[in-house]
Amino acid sequence: MKKIKHVPVMFNEVLNSIPKDCKILMDGTVWHGWHSKLILENFKNIKLICVDRDPNIIETAKQNLSEFKEKIQFVRESYWKLESILENKKVDYILLDLWVNMEHFKDAKRWFSIKHCWPLDMRFDTNQKITAEYILKNYTKDKFKDIFEKYWDFKWKLLDEIIRIIIKSRHKLKTTFDLTNSLKEWWIWEKKIAVIFQVIRIEVNQELEQLEMFLWKFQDYLNPWGRCGIITYHSIEDRLTKNRFKELDKNWLKNLTKKVIFPTLKEIEKNKPSRSAKFRLIEKI
Ligand SMILES: C[S@@+](CC[C@H](N)C(=O)[O-])C[C@H]1O[C@@H](n2cnc3c(N)ncnc32)[C@H](O)[C@@H]1O
Repeated sequence: MKKIKHVPVMFNEVLNSIPKDCKILMDGTVWHGWHSKLILENFKNIKLICVDRDPNIIETAKQNLSEFKEKIQFVRESYWKLESILENKKVDYILLDLWVNMEHFKDAKRWFSIKHCWPLDMRFDTNQKITAEYILKNYTKDKFKDIFEKYWDFKWKLLDEIIRIIIKSRHKLKTTFDLTNSLKEWWIWEKKIAVIFQVIRIEVNQELEQLEMFLWKFQDYLNPWGRCGIITYHSIEDRLTKNRFKELDKNWLKNLTKKVIFPTLKEIEKNKPSRSAKFRLIEKI
């Protein structure tokens, strides 16, 4: 079995948020199964439905969690497609941990990072047709404007200029470096380029739309007293979660984190990626 060395983000907060009598939990973003493993070790009578949209990742999760295989059902699917994941079942807890992990940044075929010369891909789900290359080569000026304004919380002073550069150089865009070099020629800084990459990744994977769809219906798949815990790393994802939880608080659900939970300083020191994490929790009553 592959050894799990990593400590999952906000694991104490996640473990403490799971009711003691929780029997069935859906981990909607299982990745290599770090949260799932801790949950299985701490809740002896629990069964898990482990979901990830990335087919390679599901295989690694199966290996890492093989000692618990009788207790887990693996599903390769997007977490928001609850009707096909759960069919008629309801669960006691749903966990989402929405970070894009380092594995994706290191995967040369996906092109998630600006640091290496890679093809323009960026899909979580490798069966999906739309890639970053498709977007960069086909989107109109208005469509680019729309996604940059929607997926980034700050005003973009150079937005028109950036879009003009992308459209002008799109015919020669094959790799990450083609895009970074085209932008650098016009004095766009690396920090901004990283944000441009992030916006395109969010669009390729429809990350915010999927979260919105999930937030719209997850309560129908929770048992009474069932809970949903969501860890976000992006201000827009957190805002969507916060606003929806607030809305649902008036409708048979209780928002248990009116004040959002942050990782402790000790955790941030030990595990840098946790620094932008925020945890929110809601309960069905
Ligand atoms: C931060 S990792 C989760 C880490 C996990 N909690 C752990 O402790 O090992 C996020 C995972 O979510 C997956 N993911 C992203 N969007 C998804 C979606 N719409 N549906 C299902 N999985 C998704 C990614 O493939 C990635 O494996």
